[in-house]
Amino acid sequence: MARRVVLVLASTLAFFSWLVPAKTQDQAPNLPAALQQTSREPIEPVPLSNDLDQNKVALGRRLFNDSRLSGGNGVSCTSCHAINQGMTDHLKLSRGLPGYPGITNTLGLFNVGLNAKFSWAGGITTLEDHTDRVIENKLTMGGRWDDVLETLRGDPSMVAAFEALYPDGIQRRNVIDAIVLLEMSLNTPNAPFDRYLRGDKAAISPQAEAGYRLFKDYGCVSCHQGINVGGNMLQVFGIFKAPDGSSEGISVPGSAADSGIAGDRPVFRVPSLRNVAHTAPYFHNGSATTLRQAIDTMAVVQLGRNLAEDDVAKLEAFLRSLTGEYEGVSLDKM
Ligand code: HEC
Ligand code: HEC
Repeated sequence: MARRVVLVLASTLAFFSWLVPAKTQDQAPNLPAALQQTSREPIEPVPLSNDLDQNKVALGRRLFNDSRLSGGNGVSCTSCHAINQGMTDHLKLSRGLPGYPGITNTLGLFNVGLNAKFSWAGGITTLEDHTDRVIENKLTMGGRWDDVLETLRGDPSMVAAFEALYPDGIQRRNVIDAIVLLEMSLNTPNAPFDRYLRGDKAAISPQAEAGYRLFKDYGCVSCHQGINVGGNMLQVFGIFKAPDGSSEGISVPGSAADSGIAGDRPVFRVPSLRNVAHTAPYFHNGSATTLRQAIDTMAVVQLGRNLAEDDVAKLEAFLRSLTGEYEGVSLDKM
């Protein structure tokens, strides 16, 4: 019964993701050209630029690299989210503080500002809220806000940097604001697939184009859709079959218990697939080592399909075309 509800939900979503953009276009003929061109597709390109305050972004980057934010634990955000590693750490499970071993795979942060829900469980809906919590989270930074603010206020160069940008200087909300702006600056536009969406049909290989068609035809796109190819909804992980390590029910670490979606099975936020070629290993528990394995598992557990080798290769080529550029450099070259 529950399975049928989820399936109906998934196909309803697929239906809407196809219909709504078309209708919107009919009703709003004045959309910018770039949007009109792509509005019939369930995936939209990452914006080519942002208008963030670059001084605050730079301060956010400084904080992101500053281990004082972990209150003496010697860890900075970069320890787990490294720019040359897809903003992750490539570990199966992240390291927590001593006594608090990591329980989930580290999420990549490129394009994180384009998600509508955050964390594997997806229960957090703003980056501000996430940043507020991450400082004191024992599985990540394990600091204490009072200590962090006191330490930063004892550093004259930090005091000056904050006072130049925020009238009230070093405050919890200003530290959060700067980090959030840094996070919002981590977009990776201009992926081959985005160039394809914008009209450059030669930007991706025929194999990747065939993969995109399968991605839509098989229904991957009913969950992985929108600008971030995911990041905006909760779904059962294992609609047709319980995947490895997720058979323990809703108490699985990182899963969205009490989300109201399914009481008896693990529910997760559908992750973004942008730059997915750079964020191995995969799934909340790091159980898939390669992208092929992850695609194979998805087909079996989410769609009830055993894919031919050739189809997996096409889907992989499509997913690889989602690798974008950070500050003008393709992640493939970083
Ligand atoms: C010890 C490793 C570690 C450190 C240090 C760390 N993170 Fe994370 N980060 C993780 C893990 C693991 C997750 C996924 C947690 C979960 O949802 O189960 C995550 C998730 C996130 C997310 C959610 C991404 C999404 O798509 O939902 C954001 C945002 C984030 N971290 C920002 C930060 C910031 C900012 C800092 C520094 C203040 C930081 N992280 C420090 C390991 C770390
Ligand atoms: C019913 C919703 C749904 C469908 C359909 C679906 N996925 Fe997923 N996908 C998810 C969820 C939820 C996760 C996170 C699973 C977890 O918690 O580990 C995920 C994870 C992934 C990951 C791993 C991402 C990462 O960063 O760890 C890949 C790759 C992926 N999906 C590809 C696909 C492909 C390819 C298809 C089609 C063959 C597909 N998905 C169909 C919901 C779905």
